[in-house]
Amino acid sequence: MRWDAGLYERSFGYVAAYGEALIDLLDPRPDERIIDLGCGTGTLTSEVAARGARVLGLDSSTAMIDQARGQHPELDFEVADAHVFTFREQADAVFSNAALHWMTDPDAVIARVWAALRPGGRFVAEMGASGNCATIIEAVHAAAAELGIAGEVRSPWYFPTPAEQAARLEKGGFEVRWLHCFDRPTPLDQCPDGIADWLRMFGAEMLRPVPADLIDRLLDRVNELTAPALYRDGIWTADYRRLRFIAARL
Ligand code: BEZ
Repeated sequence: MRWDAGLYERSFGYVAAYGEALIDLLDPRPDERIIDLGCGTGTLTSEVAARGARVLGLDSSTAMIDQARGQHPELDFEVADAHVFTFREQADAVFSNAALHWMTDPDAVIARVWAALRPGGRFVAEMGASGNCATIIEAVHAAAAELGIAGEVRSPWYFPTPAEQAARLEKGGFEVRWLHCFDRPTPLDQCPDGIADWLRMFGAEMLRPVPADLIDRLLDRVNELTAPALYRDGIWTADYRRLRFIAARL
């Protein structure tokens, strides 16, 4: 997917803000070697570095890595696909916030994370859980059906159940030390056009089959369909569900 890294930074800063709690779970120690997988514009990478760890930020988007390098020239960032990345050293930890659900082959990613870690190294992540943004996704399908293009639109994200993710981690050579699934309704303060704005940022892949002349109608309809559940007192809220885990490489 092509990212508008500037818009992401300006209007979707909550992604990194919510991720800060994940740094406490990571508990980075001075001089640890840590990879931030799917680092985006590098906000959390820099916070991990501020705790004294040596961090490498990886992201498949050149736009995101350009923005990260511009904002944090003192840190190391590389464009890399999480499905195939390699790491010359053995990392103490791999950290990932709100990125794993974009990756289409979760087992391949887990295998690369395993290979990058030293034995006992930890994989600490947050991602969308099953049911994440379900009201939004269902509304896109419903609006597409009304426009006669139902079969062409599909959700591109991987939102596993806790059991599914734990099983994948175990199969991939990890011991799951801690895993937590929770609802996190997320106010979209910087999205005056509501879920339509959220989809303009994150939904390009899902909306790709929608003809250009139908996009605005579809987005307006998604706002109408989601408003009863997601719009209250002038504020739009996305129905996020999160999965957080700590897993140790065996
Ligand atoms: C998420 O962080 O859960 C998410 C972000 C964008 C699209 C889908 C899910």
